[in-house]
Amino acid sequence: MKVLIIGGGGREHAIAWKVAKSSKVEKLYCAPGNAGIEECAECIDIPVTNHEGLSDFALSKKIDLTIVGPDDPLADGIVDVFEKKGLRVFGPRKNAAIIESSKVFAKNLMKKYNIPSADYEAFDMSEKAIEYLRSSKYPIVIKADGLALGKGVLICMNYDEAVRAVETIMVDKQFGLAGNRIIIEEFIKGPEVSVLAFCDGTHILPMTSAQDHKRAKDNDQGLNTGGMGTFSPSPFYTEEVDKFCKQYIYQPTMDAMKAEGRDFVGILFVGLMLTEDGPKVLEYNARFGDPEAQVVLPRLENDLVEVFEACIDGKLHETLLSFEEKAAVCVILASDGYPEHYEKGFEIQGLETFSNTEDYHIFHAATKKDQGKILTNGGRVLGVTALGSNLKEARANAYKATEKIYFTNKYMRTDIGKSIE
Ligand code: AMP
Ligand code: GLY
Repeated sequence: MKVLIIGGGGREHAIAWKVAKSSKVEKLYCAPGNAGIEECAECIDIPVTNHEGLSDFALSKKIDLTIVGPDDPLADGIVDVFEKKGLRVFGPRKNAAIIESSKVFAKNLMKKYNIPSADYEAFDMSEKAIEYLRSSKYPIVIKADGLALGKGVLICMNYDEAVRAVETIMVDKQFGLAGNRIIIEEFIKGPEVSVLAFCDGTHILPMTSAQDHKRAKDNDQGLNTGGMGTFSPSPFYTEEVDKFCKQYIYQPTMDAMKAEGRDFVGILFVGLMLTEDGPKVLEYNARFGDPEAQVVLPRLENDLVEVFEACIDGKLHETLLSFEEKAAVCVILASDGYPEHYEKGFEIQGLETFSNTEDYHIFHAATKKDQGKILTNGGRVLGVTALGSNLKEARANAYKATEKIYFTNKYMRTDIGKSIE
């Protein structure tokens, strides 16, 4: 098979690495890819926003399967464009990707179908939102409706902060059109767990659990980022929690989307909070998490292409997933200053130490090749994943590996996975 992967971050490197191991794949392309992905795929310089260009490329190369990594092209309907041209593609259509691209849609869906989540109200006028805040309980959570790179969620301790948050989102439009509508949501507490699941429109097959660290600095301080590190599995995700989620969250979400005429085919990412009242959905994403994919895919024992095909063909009920017993930890090496201002273009040294090792994976998030050298090319630069017989060992291995890689403004959190030791 000829396969095309769309995207160029750490998540897509993890997908590409796993897809390249499939016995079914004879040629792998990635657009736009990066310097790490180049080792397992031919990188094609077409941006993820150019849906016509990408689908024409797939036609011209007779691509048998295209896999879409990031949220933006899914929300913009790239799957619909590919399907219209008769191409086989893995990911939700625009009308299903809305489960991530509109928090108002997701919250209304959960309310309508009794899927556990925090209480909320939706607003499209700032005056009405501010009026509502006068009689609210604090802390309270304010969320921009649309995609905002994980930054559109503000936790407000009191009325004044909440009013400022509404103005930032709805009046100043800090997140652009994503802030035309907002959700004001009850503040809930508990450990957070991410579960990614394969979906074929009817059936849903959850993968092993993972946990992200979203804040830039140790002890969950600093700004929200795309994710600074992950571990898998999460010790909080017990069999009892899994049973509850299967019964009241995962399958009901699939059924709800089908009932709405929005059959969900692709990866559903369920962000959960395990509260005293039971698990609740914090958010849905319509794709693999980044850097959740970097700890879940190295533990997956199945042929990933076979599972993608089962999803597209509506045959997921015939698939059994299996995961390695080993635990995985991924530490993100970032450019100092991320997620705000940072420099890039520095040479990365030490990568060769890791070639051909099964228990270490250096997934490139933002790198580029220049005259034989590999340079930093963004905020999150590399994801250093290590396996170990348990989380403690995986964590020790991951941090040992980070010491072998060097670039000028290298920055990382030092406490990824520490809380569960
Ligand atoms: P989201 O993008 O909706 O997952 O929100 C980003 C982060 O904000 C989550 O990972 C939580 O840490 C926090 N958060 C979101 N919603 C709530 C809530 N209702 N109560 C407490 N924290 C929340
Ligand atoms: N790591 C969180 C996300 O991918 O949205």
